[in-house]
Amino acid sequence: MSGDARKTAEGLSYLTGFGNEHASEAVPGALPEGRNSPQRAPLGLYAEQLSGTAFTEPRAHNRRSWLYRIRPSAAHPAFTRTGNGAIRTAPFTETVPDPNRLRWNPLPEPPAGTDFLAGLWTLGGNGDAAQRTGMAVHLYRADASMERVFSDADGELLIVPELGGLLLHTEFGRLHAEPGDVALIPRGVRFRVELLDESARGYVCENYGAPFQLPDLGPIGANGLANARDFRAPVAAYEDVAGPVEVVNKFCGNLWTATYDHSPLDVVAWHGNHVPYVYDMRRFNVIGTISYDHPDPSIFTVLTSPSDTPGLAGVDFVVFAPRWLVGEDTFRPPYFHRNVMSEYMGLIEGAYDAKAEGFVPGGGSLHNMMSAHGPDRETFDRASAAELRPQKVDDGLAFMFETRWPVTLTPHAAGATHLQQRYDDVWQGLERHFRAR
Ligand SMILES: [Fe+2]
Repeated sequence: MSGDARKTAEGLSYLTGFGNEHASEAVPGALPEGRNSPQRAPLGLYAEQLSGTAFTEPRAHNRRSWLYRIRPSAAHPAFTRTGNGAIRTAPFTETVPDPNRLRWNPLPEPPAGTDFLAGLWTLGGNGDAAQRTGMAVHLYRADASMERVFSDADGELLIVPELGGLLLHTEFGRLHAEPGDVALIPRGVRFRVELLDESARGYVCENYGAPFQLPDLGPIGANGLANARDFRAPVAAYEDVAGPVEVVNKFCGNLWTATYDHSPLDVVAWHGNHVPYVYDMRRFNVIGTISYDHPDPSIFTVLTSPSDTPGLAGVDFVVFAPRWLVGEDTFRPPYFHRNVMSEYMGLIEGAYDAKAEGFVPGGGSLHNMMSAHGPDRETFDRASAAELRPQKVDDGLAFMFETRWPVTLTPHAAGATHLQQRYDDVWQGLERHFRAR
């Protein structure tokens, strides 16, 4: 939470684009030309490849980067187990999957001195991290910057701040993420989180499956939804510090720790496409109806983690961004539905247009596979009677992690004091209007 850090964050420059080959050097001449691994890398650096996909995956999906660093990552002591805190990992087997609609208030205040890693609290998830399938929903709440460095071998981390700015110091450079932004840390990339405000709160999707990619656009055409140029990757920045640095590695569900004699954020230059990003959700190009009805919420997909079945995502990241509603003779809020996919929703700010109250920033709801949900009574009554003029929905920013498998809760999420006890009441009082003529 330092003023200097915020100034640093404001001065950051970025590389734009998603999934394409980027290159950056913090010192002129650090990046070798014409080859990835020359006999002697420039400036006495070590060359190292970081592979986020198998070597042989198709070019369109292949993710890898070459890092030119002061010391190779291999130069580290043995890792030993450390406590997992409130972090849990798939397979989630400690509770039975719950068909009920569930909703939580924001996480309670953490103990003083809690950093991002200690403040991670797993709600639940699905799949199997060791099989590289499925996902986990985490929330975080922190009031201290990380002194230690973290990396996650189990999956990539999509960080969704809701309160408090973050400065993410990564192997590739620094990223600044405020509420309204999302930050993507690829699998295995080391980083630490510096808080830019007194405290920080938000959500994390840990994706064990295929790396997030932009969805195909089909008949939408060459533009729209999240535009590639709005994704920002960091420029190279490195730490050249001697002395003990704790490095925590999440591996197959457990946290392991080692004390290095240097910072592993010592990459002076890099090139590749396995890189962190930040994206401003307000840049999302929202597409919807200009006649009647509205498309399924998949039209709001920012990023998708594909599975082996075309169109069936391990997890989609979906945003409900400010937009105009103009549909004629149309019930405009999200409709009643039951979905084979499972939906975890969170709220960054304001309100969500399917709920009058109870769904609050920092809280979240879970509508598991085939659970019936939709607008509450107040929303239904209002939207059914509303005069259908063009209407701007701009008082909220909500998102969804939508996944192909049910989300099974952790015991601490199932038993949380901030789990709302009467969420079903939202759908009470929806009156019988039927008349058989
Ligand atoms: Fe839904």
